[in-house]
Amino acid sequence: MNDNVRPESMVRITTPALAESFIQEQIQKIQEQVKDKKVLLALSGGVDSSVVAALLVKAIGKQLVCVHVNHGLMRKGESEQVIEVFQNQMNANLIYVDATDRFLDLLAGVSEPEKKRKIIGGEFIKVFDEEASKLEGISFLAQGTIYPDILESDGVKAHHNVGGLPEDMQFELVEPVKLLYKDEVRVVGKALGLPAEMVDRQPFPGPGLGVRCLGAITRDRLHALREADAILREEFANSGLAQKVWQYFIAIPDMKSVGVKNDKRYEGWPAIIRAVNTTDAMSATIEEIPYEVLHKITARITAEVEGINRVLYDLTPKPIGTIEWE
Ligand code: XMP
Repeated sequence: MNDNVRPESMVRITTPALAESFIQEQIQKIQEQVKDKKVLLALSGGVDSSVVAALLVKAIGKQLVCVHVNHGLMRKGESEQVIEVFQNQMNANLIYVDATDRFLDLLAGVSEPEKKRKIIGGEFIKVFDEEASKLEGISFLAQGTIYPDILESDGVKAHHNVGGLPEDMQFELVEPVKLLYKDEVRVVGKALGLPAEMVDRQPFPGPGLGVRCLGAITRDRLHALREADAILREEFANSGLAQKVWQYFIAIPDMKSVGVKNDKRYEGWPAIIRAVNTTDAMSATIEEIPYEVLHKITARITAEVEGINRVLYDLTPKPIGTIEWE
């Protein structure tokens, strides 16, 4: 039997009770597979790797070593949340690597989107590899592979996945959620006690804010992007849009326009809001955002974020626009 095929008889996990029995079953399987050996996991803070981490912490505790690489392109507060949840609350074995300078130095002056993605993906593997080689006695590599990844492994996602690790790593794989769909992973995550913000997190590209700070990334524009994005998320949460919109974020192009602030000329970047609904990310529609909310977001971003003097709303569906701007 091919264990990468979801059996017809497998029940869709939709309730806490079903999640609980899945968790118990996986704990036993993981313990049988791993025994007293050590397992390494690249923990991005995304839904899939977080659920795998929580499951493994339950099954094997400190035999799991999580490595969280902060590439400096995370959303505001995300790396902090990984540390808070896994190190402080779950008492997991977590290695935190702040590689911000490495990534931003390599990306300086690089404006071509695919080149940026390659640099980020390549450096991620390098940093992770360096951390792995400092550790002794690791026998397994855990991964947050989910069923759509298996189904689409020849398709678009393969080159998308920055978390993709080197082929030559000599580890046996532990992939406890590989037969689950995304909604099931979320139900399991909730049953494992992960915070709702983490379990319901939007899809976030591996290269992170790197593909939303358009063109050559600079630290000041990246900072403005992160702050504006945090305001957008806050206002979407306050107005109930966060539950209705599949993916929403800010992108900032590498261009300035003239503005006026405190009676003085104020040149700044525009912050572009993107808010889309989709089921499969292949096509997407635009969410109707109440004008009131748009005005509030505009007022807050232009008042609170240094360097931004305009806010725009992108009305373009996919196709013709892709969801991300690069
Ligand atoms: P596009 O921009 O192609 O995006 O319409 C479709 C979905 O894929 C996400 N995306 C990425 N995910 N690495 C990722 O892991 C990437 O390089 C990447 N580019 C786009 C995007 O956020 C959307 O959900």
